[in-house]
Amino acid sequence: MTDLLEEPRDGAKTLAGAGKSYGIPMSVLAEITHRCPLQCPYCSNPVELERAGAELTTEEWKRAMSEMADMGVLQIHFSGGEPTARKDLVELVRHATEVGLYSNLITSAVLLTRDKLAQLADAGLSHVQISFQGSEAGIADRVGGFKGGHAKKLEVARWVREVGLPLTINAVMHRQNLHQLPEIIDMAVALDADRLEVANVQYYGWALKNRAALMPTEEQVDWTTRIVEEAQERLRGILAIDYVIPDYYALQPKKCMGGWGQQFFNISPSGKVLPCHAAESITGLHFDSVRDHSLAWIWENSPALNLYRGTDWMPEPCRSCPKKEEDFGGCRCQAFALTGDASNPDPACVFSPFHEQIFRAAKEEATGPAERFIYRNFAGGTPEGER
Ligand code: FES
Repeated sequence: MTDLLEEPRDGAKTLAGAGKSYGIPMSVLAEITHRCPLQCPYCSNPVELERAGAELTTEEWKRAMSEMADMGVLQIHFSGGEPTARKDLVELVRHATEVGLYSNLITSAVLLTRDKLAQLADAGLSHVQISFQGSEAGIADRVGGFKGGHAKKLEVARWVREVGLPLTINAVMHRQNLHQLPEIIDMAVALDADRLEVANVQYYGWALKNRAALMPTEEQVDWTTRIVEEAQERLRGILAIDYVIPDYYALQPKKCMGGWGQQFFNISPSGKVLPCHAAESITGLHFDSVRDHSLAWIWENSPALNLYRGTDWMPEPCRSCPKKEEDFGGCRCQAFALTGDASNPDPACVFSPFHEQIFRAAKEEATGPAERFIYRNFAGGTPEGER
């Protein structure tokens, strides 16, 4: 997700609501469907997936995009689920182009044809990001729960460059594929990618269900950091590499989403406006829908967006922390997942009373037996080997 988050741009209009200042988001993540042929055990979608019948219509998405452009949003990231599962994707991309939005397609690639990719490029698509689950089919197809997926991704990545679009490779890393990182870096170079995101799993939703099977050891994380730093130096000017260490091994929390409701929002398939992709994992919050209100109204007035905006909501030790406006207290979804209260300090912070406990749990799980995955699906998950 790091590519979605930018500092507020110069000249961005600033709104003031309930004593909290925040900018107009530069980018929006549009999860146009939760349908997906892959079943990744760390999927960032909520465990309660939204069905096809609940999805916004083509016209509703177009209206939402027009409203984004009117607000001053610059980029739309079409995501899912698998966004190419929507038959109207080309029409949606064309509308994004017409209203002046830069458009990025975040895809598993397995449903794309060369012809569809060319149509998307003609409609004005600006960029493609393809997820990979490993450097070779054995691990990659097992993690994604989709036979033949890795080979198809390689093929589509080449088509992306052939039609002249920029390419980012997103590699989600965990204890069962981290050893393939050097080959993944080589693969990104061979595919002529512009950027590689080495994305360590974030543990909420589906990934939390699979935490023991995914959590790397501290030694693995240290090794990964060395590999990434060496590659960043060696490939300067050839491949940009983004890398964030897993929260469980950090001392300071990340500035999640650039701060809750500060720089970014996400629209779910049915139109709910969320401060992040995982916000629905926090129980008891109500998220307003583009079906009921304009995006501008929601951005300014949504009680859920205002709840953890700024710094007024913070408990101690965040409230008196000199870094509170650097990290905005970290991740609310992680605080909820690990402490049961989203207003607690993110346990990734060394000053959280929960920090030691989660660090120890991570170490124990990472050195325990690598358990089987629970695959993501509409049935609430299926253990590996039982499909
Ligand atoms: Fe929701 Fe961090 S993912 S606030």
